[in-house]
Amino acid sequence: MDKKIVGYADEISVAPGERIRFMVSCEPEISRYRAEFVRLLSGDTQPDGPGYRDEPLPGAAIGEHAGRRQAVHAGAFGIVPHHRVFEGLESLSLQVTVYPTLPEARRACVLSKTDPAAGAGFALWCDPREGMVLALGDGDGGMRELATGRPLIAKEWYLVQATCDAESGEVRISQRLLESYARDTSTGSARTRLEGEVALSCDAPLLVAAHSRERSRRGRPIPELVFNGRVERPVVASRRLDEAELETLRYGPLPAALRPALCVALDFSREIDSDDIVDISPNRVHGELVNLPIRAVRGSSWTGEEMNFRHAPEHYAAVHFLEDALYDCEWESDFELVVPEGTRSGFYAAKLTSGDQEDHIPFFVRPPRGRASAPLVLIAPTASYMAYANWRSSMENEHGELDYNHLAEIFPEDRYLNLRPELGNSMYDHHADGTGVCYSSRLRPILNFRPKHGSLWQLSADMHLVDWLESNDIAYDVLTDEDMHADGVECLRRYRCVMTCTHPEYYSTPMWNALYAYTQGGGRLMYLGGNGFYWRVAFRDDKPGAMEMRRAEDGSRSWIAEPGEYYMAFTGELGGMWWRCGGAPQYLVGNGFVAQGFDFSSYYRRNSDSFDPRAAFVFEGVGPEELIGNFGLIGGGAAGIELDAFNRHYGTPPHALNLASSEKHTDSYLHVNEDVGHMYLPIGGLDDPAVRADMVFFETPNGGAVFSTGSIGWCSALFHRRYDNNVSRITRNVLDRFLDAAPFDDGGG
Ligand SMILES: [Fe+2]
Repeated sequence: MDKKIVGYADEISVAPGERIRFMVSCEPEISRYRAEFVRLLSGDTQPDGPGYRDEPLPGAAIGEHAGRRQAVHAGAFGIVPHHRVFEGLESLSLQVTVYPTLPEARRACVLSKTDPAAGAGFALWCDPREGMVLALGDGDGGMRELATGRPLIAKEWYLVQATCDAESGEVRISQRLLESYARDTSTGSARTRLEGEVALSCDAPLLVAAHSRERSRRGRPIPELVFNGRVERPVVASRRLDEAELETLRYGPLPAALRPALCVALDFSREIDSDDIVDISPNRVHGELVNLPIRAVRGSSWTGEEMNFRHAPEHYAAVHFLEDALYDCEWESDFELVVPEGTRSGFYAAKLTSGDQEDHIPFFVRPPRGRASAPLVLIAPTASYMAYANWRSSMENEHGELDYNHLAEIFPEDRYLNLRPELGNSMYDHHADGTGVCYSSRLRPILNFRPKHGSLWQLSADMHLVDWLESNDIAYDVLTDEDMHADGVECLRRYRCVMTCTHPEYYSTPMWNALYAYTQGGGRLMYLGGNGFYWRVAFRDDKPGAMEMRRAEDGSRSWIAEPGEYYMAFTGELGGMWWRCGGAPQYLVGNGFVAQGFDFSSYYRRNSDSFDPRAAFVFEGVGPEELIGNFGLIGGGAAGIELDAFNRHYGTPPHALNLASSEKHTDSYLHVNEDVGHMYLPIGGLDDPAVRADMVFFETPNGGAVFSTGSIGWCSALFHRRYDNNVSRITRNVLDRFLDAAPFDDGGG
């Protein structure tokens, strides 16, 4: 059955009294749908699972709404508003440096200021056969074109210049490969003499990397034929500049003599941590970037001398535009909720139904601001949900075709996503031009951020833990990663115990600092997942719902950041693995990522440390020889999918206890590549003792403690025999002790 209703919300975490808006799009056959608000209690609908359960959110109205289709306009581009400096243009010079990444695919627009209906304005195109093309309005609904006739080579820098001189009627265009290769045939130029009029002026905005014929509901040009690749320093002048004059405009300050001739000179090396486009011409016609093209990328003058864009912004004067980037769908809101006072904190969703169609738009209700309503808080890993948002590479090949190399089911959500590239990518995917996806956003439908999702991953796997808390009547609050990012340790200090979900992989610096300060201040942390605290991410205050990450230097990477592009544009921080940024997960929680495999899960066996009296509370009711978690809903065991191990070298505290370890993982479990070196050539699987999850416990200063399971599969075992099992027992033993005010002995006397 195809999915026909999807939506998203403007907020991810709301407190009672706060407003959240919902945006919905329906296929034409859905004329009406019902919207209700539910608390999510359980979400795994596979045959052996606990099933789906929800309950109505008390006091929230149920609505009936008309279905409508809302469009998505993907494509990252730049927009500079129309300005009087463009009025009355008769002659023209254009200069821009470009690095096409997909020039062979189709015609793409590098620069445009056109009114296609009137046949007015000018544009620069990159054409697969004709190379760079200058297009000038003919004043009669058409455009006259002049092309170099030489296709550009992908991933090479070209200086592109074009002029039109009203007096002589001469039009020129040139493209010059900036690298000096022998036998280059991609440099070229063309000139012609105009026959008839040109109309260069129109009141359309100047677009960088896109063309447009229509405007969106908000009045913004809808991008089409978006250029994939990098663009540096576009300059528009109102007279024909000669070669020598043009040369002086490429870098650095603008020569005073040319200033009167300039319309705009856009310097992308300025304000890299924003969406701003800065015009350094005297006219100051500043613009903005739309849909998060990539900033802090190497420009044509990058040499390798500097790796940090903040140290040499002039080396990072380019912006990487992309046809399939998306920040905000900008749909009209269909309904909203003001969270009723007294609503319990938890996982919630707007549940949309129409006939056999259904969609859930999840959100989280936090406790009233400044308060805790339970001694336990569960952190919804919304940063990791965003990193995995609309993960395509789990099911699509490089051509965007549905493609599995193992037995698997394709769910309606997968098919919906596959048919709609405009819904954007996850941070595991590549853009159409092969560039790794380093930004994500939650202001779009996220098809894998749903309870009941067939592949138990992130939210759908975390519902096992929610089910356990709900079924065992354990009181808990919920805060999200974004709450922790914004509020810091203050929002955690109100709790005796903080609990993670199954896969809290992506952490910003404020999030990391909050959690560390919490454990150091006597807090108790239960890390019930795997591959946690692995990648560093960044948020930007003026870009709500967006997140940045660079797969830099090392790690188990679905793509690899380009040289010199390890620093995040949002904050200027070094991106990549937390281990490489000063805070390995072992230092925070005692264990860290060592291996992953996606077939079968295994079990833990107790180590001698588990008989240490300090850990007696963990194993109450668990026999000394008992295998722990040789059952579970993900791969059949509690130790599986992604595994974290104890490691002093990476920062596991010296007094930490390695309570239990998993063993006998299948050969599909490969050791992470960051540990590979001359001395250690991992083999993975059955024969590699380093492929294991370690259950770790240690006390922290001021009476706090940390307990870590180091496995994504752990929570999938909680439900076994209706919660009567040793994974559930250990989790409960630890929780009960962690909720007890009695301080842990930190050895401080
Ligand atoms: Fe992961």
